[in-house]
Amino acid sequence: MKIFIDTANVREIKEAVSMGIVDGVTTNPTLVAKENRSMTELLEEICALVSGPVSAEVISLQTEEMVSEARKLSRIAKNIVVKIPLIKEGLQAVRVLSREGIKTNVTLCFSPSQALLAAKVGADFISPFIGRFDDISQEGMDLIRNIKLIYSNYNFKTEIIVASVRNPMHIVEAAKIGADIATVPFAVIEQLIKHPLTDIGIQRFLKDWEKVSQIQTQKVSSAR
Ligand code: G3P
Repeated sequence: MKIFIDTANVREIKEAVSMGIVDGVTTNPTLVAKENRSMTELLEEICALVSGPVSAEVISLQTEEMVSEARKLSRIAKNIVVKIPLIKEGLQAVRVLSREGIKTNVTLCFSPSQALLAAKVGADFISPFIGRFDDISQEGMDLIRNIKLIYSNYNFKTEIIVASVRNPMHIVEAAKIGADIATVPFAVIEQLIKHPLTDIGIQRFLKDWEKVSQIQTQKVSSAR
């Protein structure tokens, strides 16, 4: 499963890239707004840091405006993928963009029927938001299972990006289902690495190793 980082923060992206686990980046208007910078300049910098896809979202809600925003965004860098909201006008825009060879990530997906339509119009990626279901006491991961089944029934090429990830179990479940990608906030990437037994194990090894070095030091001084 590919891992994207869900952030527009350059420091977080650099750190995750240096770990060698980042296959791409997803941003959204909320994440970009947090950075307080020109969006174009920010995207240029992010696209230079990663070779994989970098999603950037349109703000317009009308088909023509979305298409023209998408064309502008796609000129920023070769690896830009344009995020389009899952509304009727958005699906129409994806159809146009897909014919122009502009890559799209259809976002704010909350149902299998929406995902089916996104695939039919030629979306390259679909972003089901699972955490927002969990937030309202519904099982978000069921949506991923259903989309995975529908896409494999018809051999759709649209890649599933598990989005709105809240914790490491979301990643594990996504991988068990066979989702193509999970887009993960930096804090959750750090949680993925951590295990208390690993930390305890390291402490124990280091403590035991102290005894070995003490014996070695004693031997050296008694040989003098
Ligand atoms: O990639 C979409 C994701 O950023 C949304 O996450 O936490 O706002 O539900 P969240």
